This record gives sequence, C-alpha cells and structure tokens, in this order.
Amino acid sequence: MHRPIASVLIAATLATPAVAGDPTPTDLVDYRETYFEGLSKHMKAIGMVVKGKVARPADLAGHAQAIAAVSDHLTGLFPAGTGPDAVPTTEALPAVWTDPDGFKAKAAAFSEKAKAFAAIAAKGDLEASKAAFFAVGKACGDCHDTFRKDDH
Ligand code: HEC
Repeated sequence: MHRPIASVLIAATLATPAVAGDPTPTDLVDYRETYFEGLSKHMKAIGMVVKGKVARPADLAGHAQAIAAVSDHLTGLFPAGTGPDAVPTTEALPAVWTDPDGFKAKAAAFSEKAKAFAAIAAKGDLEASKAAFFAVGKACGDCHDTFRKDDH
C-alpha cells in the first residue's frame, strides 16, 4: 500500500499513542511482518548486486550489516498470544509456539549465517560474498519450510 508521505506523517502525528509497553497482538504481528519485509528488501538488493544487475559491489557490506544487526531480534518478535488464534492474518504457523526449541535453532542458524556474510562482505570480495549470501537465503527458507504458511 502506498500513501503519499504527507498523509502518512499526518496520520502518525494525529494517532493517539498506544500505552507504552502494551502493544496489541495485531501491532506485534504488523511490526514483525515489517521487520521481515525489511530483511527481504535487503536480500533483494543484494541479489541485484551479486547478479550484476547493478554495478554497486561496495553496497554489499552495508546491506549485509543491516541484516546481521537485526538478526538477533527475530525470536523476540513472536511472543505468546501473537499466533494464528489471536491474529488470523499472521503467516506464522502454530509450530513456532509448540516447538520453540526448533524455532530458536532455525533463528540461531540464520543469525550465524547473517553475521558470517557481514564479515565476508566487509572485506569487499564479491565472489566470496556470493556463497555467504546464498547461505543466508537458505537459512531464511529453512525456517519458512517449517514455521511459515506455504500458501503464496
Ligand atoms: C527462524 C525463522 C525465520 C527465519 C530465519 C526467517 N523467517 Fe521470514 N518469516 C518467518 C515467519 C514465522 C513468518 C510469518 C510472520 C507473520 O506473518 O507473523 C515470516 C515472514 C516473512 C515474510 C512475509 C512478511 C509479510 O509481510 O507478511 C517475508 C518477506 C520473510 N519472512 C522474509 C524472510 C527473509 C528474507 C529471511 C532471511 C533473510 C527470513 N524471512 C528469515 C520465519 C522466519
């Protein structure tokens, strides 16, 4: 959804702030989906660079750092009470809450790959960065296979 910036800013200014520390389940789902969209946009931008669609190899380090920097936020975005029972629009499967150890393991694997990629991308080696980038993408998919609805 695209709204003119001015109307977004006005809406943000006029909105009554929610009580701090008391977000609704829908707010939490909205926030985590926005988080994942951010990851996805960085991944897409990196993909365009490594495929040579744009000649901006020096951008890789920043995108990789951004992903790595927020990679540890992931498990905290799924508190109890934000599953499909509470928020039907969520794409998270109940397994996130019934198999928390499995979910944490996938999140930890993702974070590890993201940090490894950031370290390699910082050295500016495009070829070495590619393999590390694909490993991050695989870690995203590995988690989605088990913990995200597969209907899109
Ligand atoms: C540990 C598990 C896990 C990892 C790792 C993970 N995701 Fe997800 N992702 C999910 C779950 C669960 C959802 C569903 C969230 C919801 O709808 O509440 C999701 C949702 C998404 C969405 C949809 C957001 C929306 O607007 O509905 C995108 C896009 C996405 N992930 C991209 C990524 C990318 C890119 C990566 C890796 C860089 C990644 N994810 C890593 C579990 C994961």
